[in-house]
Amino acid sequence: MRAVRFHEYGGVETLVVEQVPEPRPGPGEIRIRVAAASVNPIDWKARAGALRGMISVELPAIPGRDAVGVVDEIGAGVRGVSAGDRVFGLGGVTGATAELAVLSAWAHAPAEWTDEEAGGAALAAVTAMGGLNALGPLRGRTLLVEGAAGGVGSAAVEIAVARGATVIGTASERNHAFVASLGAVPTTYGTGLAERLAALAPGGVDLALDTAASGSLADLVAIVGDLARVSTVADHARAAELGVRVVNAENDSALLAEAAELGRQGRYTPRVERTYPIERIAEAHAYAGRGHTRGKIAIRV
Ligand SMILES: NC(=O)c1ccc[n+]([C@@H]2O[C@H](COP(=O)([O-])OP(=O)(O)OC[C@H]3O[C@@H](n4cnc5c(N)ncnc54)[C@H](OP(=O)(O)O)[C@@H]3O)[C@@H](O)[C@H]2O)c1
Repeated sequence: MRAVRFHEYGGVETLVVEQVPEPRPGPGEIRIRVAAASVNPIDWKARAGALRGMISVELPAIPGRDAVGVVDEIGAGVRGVSAGDRVFGLGGVTGATAELAVLSAWAHAPAEWTDEEAGGAALAAVTAMGGLNALGPLRGRTLLVEGAAGGVGSAAVEIAVARGATVIGTASERNHAFVASLGAVPTTYGTGLAERLAALAPGGVDLALDTAASGSLADLVAIVGDLARVSTVADHARAAELGVRVVNAENDSALLAEAAELGRQGRYTPRVERTYPIERIAEAHAYAGRGHTRGKIAIRV
């Protein structure tokens, strides 16, 4: 099969499209014929070697954590899915940017989502939901999402709004209309955030989810006034210093099914800023690595 691979750690020039052996699903896994995958920060961090010592990546590696496609092989013990079903989901830390990918968590993709949207849904949705679930009930609460324009942040905004929260989302000015379209009140991140929030939410901000790792975690704790009402999916170092709850993505099919149901109801649509064909993976990684993606970057396989 054709896949993207990198044989050594380095810049985007290490990415090549080549013929590689086909993966096989183990027990509890499925294999899909990939229609689209997405680029997540973990992809370019892994390619650059930034995760060495934290997450083991065997070289040569196929980048990609999530994808959508049609089921073509089913591992032992798997129920509830048939060959030909269109599913989106998560495999290992790597492996998704290929014609065939093995998934260990999946859900049926809503017909409402294009392949590009569904291919970018899985990691963002489980991460956003994990971060939100750590904060407790959302209905009637005012939630701040730091980094609301990114893949995880934009998913978190829509899902939190669907769960009944009033959401304020930080983004650069150029993304304010986008953040508003997700259902949040946009504001700028950085200096003066507490003052802007005091004006936007006179009753106070109850909860905060950090998806930006911008160094603002201590400010978010001060704004909310309680460590237990802040979570981060991005700033592991400062969270450890402050005692803030860190949430990592889990390959959780129940969360994917919940995201898909919101998709069917029209209450969550993964937003795709750019789509690249697999041959242009280097450009996709370069764009994603700038850290200012609006929603998701999709890769057509
Ligand atoms: N723990 C886990 O399992 C897990 C899973 C997935 C992701 N993550 C981490 O979560 C973070 C977000 O992931 P992602 O996929 O959402 O990344 P992403 O799509 O690349 O996020 C880019 C967004 O970040 C925003 N941003 C940049 N600087 C900011 C700042 N100082 N304050 C607020 N927002 C800022 C940008 O908005 P503007 O363009 O408007 O500046 C852009 O929309 C990454 O650090 C990623 O590694 C962790």
